[in-house]
Amino acid sequence: MPVQHLAIIMDGNGRWAQERGLTRSDGHRAGAKNIAKVVEAAREFGIKYLTVYAFSTENWKRPADEVRVLMELIREFTTDMLPEMMKNNVRLRTIGRTSDLPLISRTALQKAIDATAKNDGFTLNIALSYGGRAEMIDAMNKMLKERKSDEPLTEEEFRNYLYAPDIPDPDMMIRTSGEMRISNFLLWQLSYSELYVTPVYWPDFGKEELAKALENFASRDRRFGGLTKKK
Ligand code: FPP
Repeated sequence: MPVQHLAIIMDGNGRWAQERGLTRSDGHRAGAKNIAKVVEAAREFGIKYLTVYAFSTENWKRPADEVRVLMELIREFTTDMLPEMMKNNVRLRTIGRTSDLPLISRTALQKAIDATAKNDGFTLNIALSYGGRAEMIDAMNKMLKERKSDEPLTEEEFRNYLYAPDIPDPDMMIRTSGEMRISNFLLWQLSYSELYVTPVYWPDFGKEELAKALENFASRDRRFGGLTKKK
């Protein structure tokens, strides 16, 4: 089965910049530019959904200046990408506690989300002020408020309370820059995703690197807890 939904932890912007004698902001800027490149490559490879981890619930702990740069980049990226997304039939969505974002970022995001709402060729889903535990807590609180039934809860029903229940679980999760951690990303959805970690820093992760990851995915035996089918 091909990769329909790819999730990426875009790590290593800071180290990429440091190795070049640049600032962390330069690294994030290069990282933001790279998202457009990877969307393009993912579309070419037939992927339908790309979820990128842009800002975690824990990232608010970073220095205020760095947070400000990231919020400004979100605004810039969303505004700059909009014409291309329209041209390429790309829909923009977000997951996370996005109401925590400053108004400048939220306004630009909402504009692009609304403008691309009917695009159905590809979905770029950006995780912003996102945490896997926060998502489950938000889902449970929503459920406690809305649920009428007293039937035992099923996985399928619980899923409906998550941020994007209609997006299928990721087939593969890539983490750039070498760390072997999930870092509170898509805790529910990654249950059976194939994990791929590359030492390449996010700003250097391009089409060739994506091709390598997909090739590696093709060699995996996905059993979902069952047994391998006899060929
Ligand atoms: C990790 O690099 C990256 C982030 C915390 C944020 C990812 C953000 C972007 C790619 C740019 C902004 C996003 C959008 C949607 C415009 P790091 O700073 O942790 O790198 P390091 O581990 O090398 O320090």
